[in-house]
Amino acid sequence: MNVLILGGGGREHALAMALAKSPSLSRLFVAPGNPGCAALAENVALPIDDHAAIVDFCRAREIGLVVVGPEAPLVAGVVDDLAAAGILCFGPSKAAARLEGSKGFAKDFCREFGIPTGDYRRLADAASALAYVRAKGAPIVVKADGLAAGKGVVVAMTLDEAEQAIQSMFAGAFGGAGAQLVVEDYLDGEELSFFALCDGTRAVAFAGAQDHKRVGDGDSGPNTGGMGAYSPPPLLTPALSEQVMREIVAPTVAGMAKRGAPFRGVLFVGLMVGANGPKLIEYNVRFGDPEAEAILARFDDDLLEFLLGCARGALPDRAPRFSDEAALTVIMAARGYPGTPEKGTPIRGLDAAARAPGVTILHAGTRRNGEKLVADGGRVLAVTALGRDVAEAQARAYAAVDRIDWPGGFCRRDIGWRAVAMKKGG
Ligand code: AMP
Ligand code: GLY
Repeated sequence: MNVLILGGGGREHALAMALAKSPSLSRLFVAPGNPGCAALAENVALPIDDHAAIVDFCRAREIGLVVVGPEAPLVAGVVDDLAAAGILCFGPSKAAARLEGSKGFAKDFCREFGIPTGDYRRLADAASALAYVRAKGAPIVVKADGLAAGKGVVVAMTLDEAEQAIQSMFAGAFGGAGAQLVVEDYLDGEELSFFALCDGTRAVAFAGAQDHKRVGDGDSGPNTGGMGAYSPPPLLTPALSEQVMREIVAPTVAGMAKRGAPFRGVLFVGLMVGANGPKLIEYNVRFGDPEAEAILARFDDDLLEFLLGCARGALPDRAPRFSDEAALTVIMAARGYPGTPEKGTPIRGLDAAARAPGVTILHAGTRRNGEKLVADGGRVLAVTALGRDVAEAQARAYAAVDRIDWPGGFCRRDIGWRAVAMKKGG
Protein backbone atom coordinates (compact mmCIF):
# COMPACT_ATOMS: atom_id res chain seq x y z
CA MET A 1 0.00 0.00 0.00
CA ASN A 2 1.13 3.55 -0.74
CA VAL A 3 0.94 6.00 2.17
CA LEU A 4 1.03 9.80 2.33
CA ILE A 5 1.96 11.55 5.58
CA LEU A 6 0.90 15.20 5.97
CA GLY A 7 3.29 17.42 7.91
CA GLY A 8 6.98 18.21 8.06
CA GLY A 9 8.23 18.14 11.64
CA GLY A 10 9.95 15.73 13.99
CA ARG A 11 6.68 13.89 14.62
CA GLU A 12 6.22 13.24 10.90
CA HIS A 13 9.85 12.10 10.54
CA ALA A 14 9.24 9.65 13.41
CA LEU A 15 5.98 8.45 11.77
CA ALA A 16 7.81 7.96 8.47
CA MET A 17 10.52 5.95 10.20
CA ALA A 18 8.01 3.67 11.92
CA LEU A 19 5.80 3.24 8.83
CA ALA A 20 8.83 2.47 6.64
CA LYS A 21 9.26 -0.75 8.67
CA SER A 22 5.77 -2.00 7.87
CA PRO A 23 5.77 -5.13 5.67
CA SER A 24 2.70 -3.96 3.74
CA LEU A 25 4.12 -0.56 2.81
CA SER A 26 4.91 0.04 -0.87
CA ARG A 27 5.71 3.72 -1.43
CA LEU A 28 5.86 6.37 1.26
CA PHE A 29 5.32 10.08 0.59
CA VAL A 30 5.50 13.01 3.00
CA ALA A 31 4.04 16.46 2.26
CA PRO A 32 5.94 18.68 2.71
CA GLY A 33 8.35 16.46 4.68
CA ASN A 34 11.87 17.58 5.54
CA PRO A 35 15.48 16.60 4.75
CA GLY A 36 15.30 13.80 7.35
CA CYS A 37 12.18 12.29 5.77
CA ALA A 38 13.89 12.40 2.36
CA ALA A 39 16.12 9.50 3.42
CA LEU A 40 13.07 7.21 3.88
CA ALA A 41 10.31 8.63 1.75
CA GLU A 42 9.58 10.92 -1.17
CA ASN A 43 8.95 14.49 -0.11
CA VAL A 44 6.14 16.20 -2.00
CA ALA A 45 5.68 19.97 -2.28
CA LEU A 46 1.93 19.95 -1.57
CA PRO A 47 0.35 22.77 0.46
CA ILE A 48 -1.43 20.88 3.23
CA ASP A 49 -4.28 23.39 3.37
CA ASP A 50 -5.14 22.70 -0.29
CA HIS A 51 -7.44 19.70 0.13
CA ALA A 52 -8.27 19.47 -3.59
CA ALA A 53 -4.57 19.24 -4.44
CA ILE A 54 -4.15 16.48 -1.84
CA VAL A 55 -7.08 14.54 -3.35
CA ASP A 56 -5.56 14.86 -6.83
CA PHE A 57 -2.18 13.66 -5.58
CA CYS A 58 -3.74 10.68 -3.78
CA ARG A 59 -5.59 9.64 -6.93
CA ALA A 60 -2.52 9.99 -9.13
CA ARG A 61 -0.30 7.98 -6.75
CA GLU A 62 -2.93 5.47 -5.62
CA ILE A 63 -2.56 6.37 -1.97
CA GLY A 64 -4.25 3.78 0.28
CA LEU A 65 -3.93 5.75 3.51
CA VAL A 66 -3.26 9.39 4.42
CA VAL A 67 -1.74 9.89 7.88
CA VAL A 68 -2.34 13.40 9.21
CA GLY A 69 0.38 14.66 11.57
CA PRO A 70 -0.65 18.13 12.86
CA GLU A 71 -3.99 19.37 14.23
CA ALA A 72 -4.65 22.29 11.87
CA PRO A 73 -5.63 20.21 8.80
CA LEU A 74 -7.81 17.97 11.00
CA VAL A 75 -9.68 20.92 12.46
CA ALA A 76 -10.00 22.30 8.91
CA GLY A 77 -11.70 19.07 7.78
CA VAL A 78 -9.08 17.42 5.57
CA VAL A 79 -10.33 13.97 6.62
CA ASP A 80 -13.90 14.81 5.53
CA ASP A 81 -12.74 16.11 2.15
CA LEU A 82 -10.59 13.04 1.55
CA ALA A 83 -13.38 10.71 2.69
CA ALA A 84 -15.78 12.39 0.24
CA ALA A 85 -13.30 11.45 -2.49
CA GLY A 86 -13.14 7.87 -1.21
CA ILE A 87 -9.66 8.21 0.32
CA LEU A 88 -8.95 6.60 3.69
CA CYS A 89 -7.37 8.77 6.37
CA PHE A 90 -5.82 8.25 9.79
CA GLY A 91 -7.23 11.08 11.89
CA PRO A 92 -10.62 12.35 13.09
CA SER A 93 -13.28 14.13 11.06
CA LYS A 94 -13.77 17.86 11.47
CA ALA A 95 -16.64 17.25 13.90
CA ALA A 96 -14.52 14.91 16.05
CA ALA A 97 -11.47 17.22 15.88
CA ARG A 98 -13.50 19.79 17.86
CA LEU A 99 -12.20 17.99 20.95
CA GLU A 100 -8.97 19.88 20.27
CA GLY A 101 -10.27 22.73 18.11
CA SER A 102 -12.53 24.20 20.78
CA LYS A 103 -11.64 24.08 24.46
CA GLY A 104 -15.20 25.09 25.32
CA PHE A 105 -16.57 22.17 23.30
CA ALA A 106 -14.17 19.82 25.08
CA LYS A 107 -15.13 21.07 28.55
CA ASP A 108 -18.88 20.88 27.86
CA PHE A 109 -18.35 17.37 26.50
CA CYS A 110 -16.52 16.32 29.71
CA ARG A 111 -19.33 17.71 31.83
CA GLU A 112 -21.98 15.87 29.80
CA PHE A 113 -20.19 12.51 29.90
CA GLY A 114 -18.78 12.66 33.43
CA ILE A 115 -15.12 12.82 32.41
CA PRO A 116 -12.93 14.09 35.29
CA THR A 117 -11.60 17.59 34.60
CA GLY A 118 -11.35 20.95 36.40
CA ASP A 119 -14.45 23.05 37.01
CA TYR A 120 -14.76 25.83 34.42
CA ARG A 121 -16.85 28.53 32.81
CA ARG A 122 -17.06 29.57 29.13
CA LEU A 123 -16.96 33.33 28.77
CA ALA A 124 -17.59 35.56 25.76
CA ASP A 125 -16.83 39.04 27.11
CA ALA A 126 -14.19 40.67 29.30
CA ALA A 127 -16.57 42.02 31.96
CA SER A 128 -18.04 38.62 32.83
CA ALA A 129 -14.64 36.92 32.62
CA LEU A 130 -13.15 39.47 35.03
CA ALA A 131 -16.08 39.08 37.41
CA TYR A 132 -15.68 35.27 37.31
CA VAL A 133 -11.93 35.25 38.10
CA ARG A 134 -12.43 37.82 40.88
CA ALA A 135 -15.04 35.57 42.44
CA LYS A 136 -12.86 32.46 42.03
CA GLY A 137 -9.47 33.92 42.99
CA ALA A 138 -5.99 32.73 41.96
CA PRO A 139 -4.35 30.44 40.98
CA ILE A 140 -6.61 30.04 37.96
CA VAL A 141 -6.15 29.16 34.31
CA VAL A 142 -7.26 31.32 31.36
CA LYS A 143 -7.51 29.67 27.93
CA ALA A 144 -8.33 30.96 24.46
CA ASP A 145 -11.10 28.75 23.04
CA GLY A 146 -9.55 28.04 19.63
CA LEU A 147 -6.21 26.75 18.31
CA ALA A 148 -3.31 28.99 19.32
CA ALA A 149 -0.28 26.76 18.61
CA GLY A 150 0.03 25.81 22.28
CA LYS A 151 0.32 29.43 23.36
CA GLY A 152 -3.26 30.34 24.26
CA VAL A 153 -3.04 29.16 27.88
CA VAL A 154 -2.10 31.32 30.85
CA VAL A 155 -1.66 29.61 34.20
CA ALA A 156 -2.20 32.66 36.40
CA MET A 157 -0.69 32.37 39.86
CA THR A 158 -2.08 35.81 40.81
CA LEU A 159 -5.37 37.56 40.10
CA ASP A 160 -3.42 40.30 38.37
CA GLU A 161 -1.98 37.86 35.82
CA ALA A 162 -5.44 36.39 35.20
CA GLU A 163 -6.92 39.84 34.59
CA GLN A 164 -4.10 40.75 32.19
CA ALA A 165 -4.57 37.50 30.28
CA ILE A 166 -8.30 38.15 29.92
CA GLN A 167 -7.72 41.71 28.68
CA SER A 168 -5.07 40.66 26.18
CA MET A 169 -7.08 37.70 24.82
CA PHE A 170 -10.20 39.78 24.29
CA ALA A 171 -8.00 42.50 22.73
CA GLY A 172 -7.12 39.91 20.06
CA ALA A 173 -3.74 38.50 21.19
CA PHE A 174 -4.73 35.17 19.60
CA GLY A 175 -7.06 36.54 16.92
CA GLY A 176 -10.32 34.63 16.50
CA ALA A 177 -9.07 31.84 18.77
CA GLY A 178 -9.45 34.23 21.72
CA ALA A 179 -12.91 35.57 20.91
CA GLN A 180 -14.20 33.14 23.55
CA LEU A 181 -12.41 32.00 26.66
CA VAL A 182 -12.51 29.10 29.03
CA VAL A 183 -11.55 29.93 32.61
CA GLU A 184 -10.71 26.80 34.53
CA ASP A 185 -9.68 25.70 38.02
CA TYR A 186 -5.98 25.26 38.60
CA LEU A 187 -5.09 21.57 38.88
CA ASP A 188 -2.18 20.39 40.98
CA GLY A 189 -0.11 17.30 40.30
CA GLU A 190 2.20 15.78 37.74
CA GLU A 191 1.51 16.06 34.00
CA LEU A 192 1.25 13.04 31.77
CA SER A 193 0.62 12.65 28.03
CA PHE A 194 -1.43 9.54 27.30
CA PHE A 195 -2.15 8.17 23.83
CA ALA A 196 -4.87 5.76 22.75
CA LEU A 197 -5.72 4.53 19.26
CA CYS A 198 -9.43 4.69 18.45
CA ASP A 199 -11.52 3.26 15.61
CA GLY A 200 -14.79 5.04 16.31
CA THR A 201 -16.14 2.44 18.72
CA ARG A 202 -13.10 0.83 20.34
CA ALA A 203 -9.87 2.14 21.82
CA VAL A 204 -6.55 0.53 22.71
CA ALA A 205 -3.94 2.08 24.97
CA PHE A 206 -0.90 3.03 22.92
CA ALA A 207 1.70 4.60 25.21
CA GLY A 208 2.44 7.36 27.66
CA ALA A 209 5.10 10.06 27.75
CA GLN A 210 6.13 13.10 29.71
CA ASP A 211 6.85 16.34 27.93
CA HIS A 212 8.80 19.41 29.08
CA LYS A 213 6.85 22.47 27.99
CA ARG A 214 8.96 25.31 29.40
CA VAL A 215 11.93 26.58 27.43
CA GLY A 216 14.46 26.64 30.29
CA ASP A 217 16.13 24.18 32.65
CA GLY A 218 14.23 23.47 35.85
CA ASP A 219 10.94 24.10 33.95
CA SER A 220 11.56 27.86 33.83
CA GLY A 221 10.70 30.51 31.23
CA PRO A 222 7.88 30.67 28.69
CA ASN A 223 5.87 27.72 27.35
CA THR A 224 6.89 26.11 24.07
CA GLY A 225 5.52 23.34 21.88
CA GLY A 226 7.73 20.98 23.92
CA MET A 227 11.48 20.89 24.54
CA GLY A 228 11.86 17.17 25.11
CA ALA A 229 10.03 14.04 26.17
CA TYR A 230 10.55 10.54 27.46
CA SER A 231 8.66 7.29 27.46
CA PRO A 232 7.55 5.29 29.33
CA PRO A 233 7.02 7.62 32.28
CA PRO A 234 7.62 5.83 35.61
CA LEU A 235 4.41 7.54 36.82
CA LEU A 236 2.31 5.52 34.35
CA THR A 237 1.75 2.21 36.11
CA PRO A 238 -0.46 -0.47 34.50
CA ALA A 239 -3.15 0.42 37.08
CA LEU A 240 -3.07 4.12 36.12
CA SER A 241 -3.19 3.19 32.43
CA GLU A 242 -6.31 1.11 33.05
CA GLN A 243 -7.88 3.92 35.06
CA VAL A 244 -7.24 6.45 32.27
CA MET A 245 -8.72 4.08 29.69
CA ARG A 246 -11.79 3.43 31.86
CA GLU A 247 -12.49 6.92 33.22
CA ILE A 248 -11.35 9.12 30.34
CA VAL A 249 -10.69 7.39 27.01
CA ALA A 250 -13.62 4.93 26.93
CA PRO A 251 -16.29 7.53 27.86
CA THR A 252 -14.79 9.92 25.30
CA VAL A 253 -15.05 7.37 22.51
CA ALA A 254 -18.57 6.40 23.59
CA GLY A 255 -19.64 10.05 23.96
CA MET A 256 -18.36 11.07 20.53
CA ALA A 257 -20.12 8.09 18.93
CA LYS A 258 -23.32 9.10 20.73
CA ARG A 259 -22.95 12.61 19.39
CA GLY A 260 -22.71 11.24 15.86
CA ALA A 261 -19.04 12.20 15.53
CA PRO A 262 -17.19 8.92 16.10
CA PHE A 263 -13.54 9.45 16.94
CA ARG A 264 -11.04 7.70 14.70
CA GLY A 265 -7.36 8.32 15.06
CA VAL A 266 -5.10 8.86 18.03
CA LEU A 267 -6.63 10.46 21.09
CA PHE A 268 -3.94 12.27 23.08
CA VAL A 269 -5.17 13.15 26.54
CA GLY A 270 -3.12 15.67 28.48
CA LEU A 271 -3.58 14.72 32.14
CA MET A 272 -2.82 16.10 35.55
CA VAL A 273 -2.27 13.25 37.95
CA GLY A 274 -2.92 14.46 41.48
CA ALA A 275 -4.16 13.10 44.80
CA ASN A 276 -7.66 12.53 43.38
CA GLY A 277 -6.53 10.56 40.35
CA PRO A 278 -6.05 11.65 36.75
CA LYS A 279 -7.91 14.70 35.47
CA LEU A 280 -8.10 15.88 31.90
CA ILE A 281 -6.24 19.10 31.10
CA GLU A 282 -6.88 18.97 27.39
CA TYR A 283 -7.64 16.75 24.44
CA ASN A 284 -5.46 16.62 21.37
CA VAL A 285 -6.54 14.71 18.30
CA ARG A 286 -3.12 13.74 16.93
CA PHE A 287 0.26 12.51 18.13
CA GLY A 288 2.20 14.87 20.39
CA ASP A 289 5.41 16.46 19.25
CA PRO A 290 8.00 15.62 20.73
CA GLU A 291 6.14 12.76 22.49
CA ALA A 292 5.78 10.86 19.20
CA GLU A 293 9.52 10.88 18.65
CA ALA A 294 10.15 9.15 22.00
CA ILE A 295 7.17 6.79 21.83
CA LEU A 296 7.73 5.63 18.28
CA ALA A 297 11.40 4.92 19.04
CA ARG A 298 10.10 2.19 21.38
CA PHE A 299 7.36 0.97 19.05
CA ASP A 300 8.02 -2.58 17.93
CA ASP A 301 5.02 -3.55 15.83
CA ASP A 302 3.36 -2.92 12.48
CA LEU A 303 2.30 0.75 12.64
CA LEU A 304 0.52 0.69 9.28
CA GLU A 305 -1.71 -2.16 10.45
CA PHE A 306 -2.77 -0.15 13.54
CA LEU A 307 -3.30 3.15 11.72
CA LEU A 308 -5.30 1.44 8.97
CA GLY A 309 -7.36 -0.32 11.65
CA CYS A 310 -8.30 3.07 13.13
CA ALA A 311 -9.20 4.49 9.72
CA ARG A 312 -11.29 1.48 8.70
CA GLY A 313 -13.14 1.24 12.02
CA ALA A 314 -11.54 -2.12 12.82
CA LEU A 315 -8.57 -1.93 15.17
CA PRO A 316 -6.50 -5.11 15.46
CA ASP A 317 -7.63 -7.24 18.36
CA ARG A 318 -4.35 -7.06 20.29
CA ALA A 319 -2.25 -4.57 22.20
CA PRO A 320 0.55 -2.95 20.18
CA ARG A 321 4.04 -4.18 21.10
CA PHE A 322 6.74 -1.88 22.47
CA SER A 323 10.34 -2.61 23.38
CA ASP A 324 11.19 -2.73 27.08
CA GLU A 325 13.71 0.05 26.63
CA ALA A 326 13.14 3.67 27.55
CA ALA A 327 13.39 6.45 24.98
CA LEU A 328 14.23 10.09 25.49
CA THR A 329 14.10 12.98 23.03
CA VAL A 330 15.97 16.27 23.42
CA ILE A 331 14.75 19.10 21.21
CA MET A 332 17.42 21.38 19.81
CA ALA A 333 15.86 24.74 19.00
CA ALA A 334 17.12 27.79 17.12
CA ARG A 335 18.23 30.72 19.22
CA GLY A 336 15.29 33.05 19.78
CA TYR A 337 12.70 30.26 20.16
CA PRO A 338 9.88 30.39 21.37
CA GLY A 339 9.97 34.03 20.21
CA THR A 340 11.41 34.68 16.74
CA PRO A 341 13.89 31.91 15.91
CA GLU A 342 17.02 32.68 13.93
CA LYS A 343 16.81 30.95 10.54
CA GLY A 344 19.47 29.73 8.14
CA THR A 345 22.26 28.92 10.63
CA PRO A 346 24.39 25.95 9.46
CA ILE A 347 24.20 22.57 11.23
CA ARG A 348 27.10 20.09 11.02
CA GLY A 349 28.09 16.78 12.54
CA LEU A 350 24.74 14.96 12.39
CA ASP A 351 26.17 11.80 10.81
CA ALA A 352 28.78 11.41 13.53
CA ALA A 353 26.20 12.12 16.24
CA ALA A 354 23.77 9.57 14.79
CA ARG A 355 26.41 6.83 15.00
CA ALA A 356 26.34 6.94 18.80
CA PRO A 357 24.69 3.79 20.25
CA GLY A 358 20.90 3.80 20.35
CA VAL A 359 20.66 7.29 18.82
CA THR A 360 18.38 8.56 16.05
CA ILE A 361 18.36 12.17 14.94
CA LEU A 362 15.01 13.33 13.70
CA HIS A 363 14.61 16.51 11.71
CA ALA A 364 11.99 18.94 12.96
CA GLY A 365 12.80 22.25 11.23
CA THR A 366 15.70 21.89 8.81
CA ARG A 367 16.26 22.71 5.15
CA ARG A 368 18.92 21.90 2.59
CA ASN A 369 20.77 24.87 1.19
CA GLY A 370 22.92 23.34 -1.54
CA GLU A 371 25.16 20.84 0.24
CA LYS A 372 24.57 22.46 3.61
CA LEU A 373 21.92 21.67 6.18
CA VAL A 374 20.50 24.78 7.83
CA ALA A 375 17.99 25.61 10.55
CA ASP A 376 14.52 26.49 9.27
CA GLY A 377 12.20 26.79 12.22
CA GLY A 378 11.92 27.07 15.99
CA ARG A 379 12.28 23.43 16.96
CA VAL A 380 14.97 22.14 14.60
CA LEU A 381 16.24 18.70 15.68
CA ALA A 382 14.78 15.97 17.87
CA VAL A 383 17.72 13.98 19.19
CA THR A 384 16.31 10.64 20.36
CA ALA A 385 18.01 7.78 22.19
CA LEU A 386 17.01 4.39 23.57
CA GLY A 387 18.49 2.97 26.76
CA ARG A 388 17.84 0.38 29.45
CA ASP A 389 16.19 3.12 31.51
CA VAL A 390 15.49 6.84 31.23
CA ALA A 391 18.89 7.67 32.77
CA GLU A 392 20.78 5.72 30.10
CA ALA A 393 18.61 7.10 27.30
CA GLN A 394 19.25 10.60 28.67
CA ALA A 395 23.03 10.10 28.82
CA ARG A 396 23.07 8.77 25.25
CA ALA A 397 20.89 11.58 23.89
CA TYR A 398 23.10 14.27 25.44
CA ALA A 399 26.27 12.53 24.20
CA ALA A 400 24.81 12.84 20.69
CA VAL A 401 23.77 16.47 21.28
CA ASP A 402 27.36 17.25 22.25
CA ARG A 403 28.62 15.90 18.94
CA ILE A 404 26.39 18.22 16.92
CA ASP A 405 28.12 21.33 15.67
CA TRP A 406 25.41 23.98 15.61
CA PRO A 407 26.33 27.26 17.30
CA GLY A 408 22.93 28.70 16.32
CA GLY A 409 21.04 26.20 18.47
CA PHE A 410 20.34 25.44 22.11
CA CYS A 411 18.61 22.79 24.19
CA ARG A 412 17.57 22.10 27.75
CA ARG A 413 20.12 20.04 29.65
CA ASP A 414 17.65 18.39 32.05
CA ILE A 415 15.13 16.48 29.93
CA GLY A 416 13.92 13.51 31.94
CA TRP A 417 15.04 14.92 35.31
CA ARG A 418 11.94 13.78 37.13
CA ALA A 419 12.29 10.15 36.05
CA VAL A 420 16.04 10.14 36.70
CA ALA A 421 15.54 11.65 40.18
CA MET A 422 12.81 9.11 40.99
CA LYS A 423 15.18 6.28 40.11
CA LYS A 424 18.02 7.71 42.22
CA GLY A 425 15.64 8.22 45.10
CA GLY A 426 14.90 4.47 44.97
P1 AMP B 1 -2.74 23.17 27.26
O1 AMP B 1 -2.38 23.92 26.03
O2 AMP B 1 -4.19 23.15 27.60
O3 AMP B 1 -2.05 21.81 27.34
O4 AMP B 1 -2.03 23.96 28.46
C1 AMP B 1 -0.66 24.22 28.44
C2 AMP B 1 -0.08 23.92 29.77
O5 AMP B 1 -0.70 24.73 30.78
C3 AMP B 1 -0.32 22.49 30.24
O6 AMP B 1 0.63 21.61 29.74
C4 AMP B 1 -0.24 22.66 31.75
O7 AMP B 1 1.11 22.68 32.16
C5 AMP B 1 -0.83 24.00 31.99
N1 AMP B 1 -2.25 23.90 32.35
C6 AMP B 1 -3.31 23.90 31.52
N2 AMP B 1 -4.46 23.78 32.20
C7 AMP B 1 -4.13 23.72 33.51
C8 AMP B 1 -4.87 23.58 34.72
N3 AMP B 1 -6.20 23.55 34.74
N4 AMP B 1 -4.18 23.54 35.89
C9 AMP B 1 -2.83 23.63 35.90
N5 AMP B 1 -2.08 23.74 34.79
C10 AMP B 1 -2.70 23.78 33.61
N1 GLY C 1 3.97 18.32 23.04
C1 GLY C 1 2.63 18.72 23.18
C2 GLY C 1 1.85 18.72 21.95
O1 GLY C 1 2.18 18.12 20.95
O2 GLY C 1 0.78 19.34 21.97
